[in-house]
Amino acid sequence: MASVSWMAVMLLLITCRESMHCDGLTVDPPDDLVISDLGHFGRLQISWSPPASQINETECSHLYQLEYFNSYTDSWSAIRTFKRTYTAQFDLMKDVRVRVYTLLRGPCTNDTLIKSSSYTEVVQKPPSTGVGTPVQDFVCVYHNMKYVECNWGRSPKLPANSQQHLYFWHKELEQAEECPTYVKTGETRSGCNFTESSLPEFTDVNFCVNGSSQEGPLKPAFVSLQIQNQVKPGTTEKLDLRTDPDAQLDLRWNGPAGKIPAHCLEWEVEHNQEGPDGKMTSQQILTNQKSLKLPSIHDTQRNCFRVRSKLSKYCANKGFWSEWSPQTCQPEKREVASNPWDIVPVYVYIAFAILAILVLSLCVGAVLKVRSLRDVKKPDALLANLFARSSVVTVTDA
Ligand SMILES: *[C@@H]1O[C@H](CO)[C@@H](O)[C@H](O)[C@H]1NC(C)=O
Ligand SMILES: *[C@@H]1O[C@H](CO)[C@@H](O)[C@H](O)[C@H]1NC(C)=O
Ligand SMILES: *[C@@H]1O[C@H](CO)[C@@H](O)[C@H](O)[C@H]1NC(C)=O
Ligand SMILES: *[C@@H]1O[C@H](CO)[C@@H](O)[C@H](O)[C@H]1NC(C)=O
Repeated sequence: MASVSWMAVMLLLITCRESMHCDGLTVDPPDDLVISDLGHFGRLQISWSPPASQINETECSHLYQLEYFNSYTDSWSAIRTFKRTYTAQFDLMKDVRVRVYTLLRGPCTNDTLIKSSSYTEVVQKPPSTGVGTPVQDFVCVYHNMKYVECNWGRSPKLPANSQQHLYFWHKELEQAEECPTYVKTGETRSGCNFTESSLPEFTDVNFCVNGSSQEGPLKPAFVSLQIQNQVKPGTTEKLDLRTDPDAQLDLRWNGPAGKIPAHCLEWEVEHNQEGPDGKMTSQQILTNQKSLKLPSIHDTQRNCFRVRSKLSKYCANKGFWSEWSPQTCQPEKREVASNPWDIVPVYVYIAFAILAILVLSLCVGAVLKVRSLRDVKKPDALLANLFARSSVVTVTDA
């Protein structure tokens, strides 16, 4: 009986905590919810004011619950704050959706948290102005952690005589700046090289590609990324391949020179094997070492290797594979195919010599046989004939 009533009290308490009307106290959602775009291409400032129905602030403090749709992760994010502003990153190519609740806690609520039953919401649509379509396939590559280069595909329906611009912003900049060096494909701008002017790592860098044309401003595109996730390591220039005394193949190489920490790289080794019959087999091996040993292999096979690298998942969310290194083989050249014309004449000479000796001995044998059996009237003529024949052979083979 006691446990049942205790349960009832607990249930009442839980209901009370979740309810807005437990002690007759209610709270309204905030007023004046505003999203401000300071020209930072997606970093938006959200602000609001406390609800008009004032509660004695010394007795009870206001808290706010902000919820916004994160279109990068396709999910709602929520935070609680005592402040009346909040800054978050949004994809301006999609709807911006923000909701704010008021929360109340203090002596006036008997220290339970009271939440407004409704929220204040603002939904901001992506810009619909501009001609053509936004640029596509926008990609930035952080080459060997040395310089960033961004490229974009030509937008379909790009009006003639249009001029595209790339602007960028990150938190170290007061306001957006234009691309330092454009990359061109023919006459049109297709990318931006940040060359030596470095972009910061581990912070959102926001880009906007807009432009103008005779038909009016082009539809802008917005992209946000962090450059440590865009690394493409440098190419490995040389592989060292040798055979161990215990007949193992021993492959070694160096990582690219530069800023990338060695422990951040993972490697793909491509092993191409060519059998004596010319049959090719290929195998990919993943490793985080800069060396590889392979068990003893037939002499008749030719083994070729090349490597490429990428940042491991422990150092970056994603990244790009480097270019393949040049291929290194053992044996370096294909023996059979490389010098067939040096070998064939030797066989021909030997064949001819054997043939000549054979013919000569046959003839001599025949002559001797003929002589021993019966009297030959013209042996000289026969011999002359024989020598003539063998000399013909000799001439041919010379
Ligand atoms: C707070 O709770 C106490 C006991 O639980 C109760 O007596 C009091 O009336 C409550 N105060 C308010 C403002 O609800
Ligand atoms: C708020 O509550 C405190 C303490 O109960 C009281 O002294 C003060 O006068 C109240 N202020 C207002 C504006 O009601
Ligand atoms: C971009 O700049 C880097 C560093 O100055 C240079 O090595 C690279 O070739 C440039 N890329 C293009 C496409 O001009
Ligand atoms: C492109 O964006 C920049 C930065 O917001 C702005 O100053 C410029 O006027 C825009 N250009 C066009 C053609 O819309």
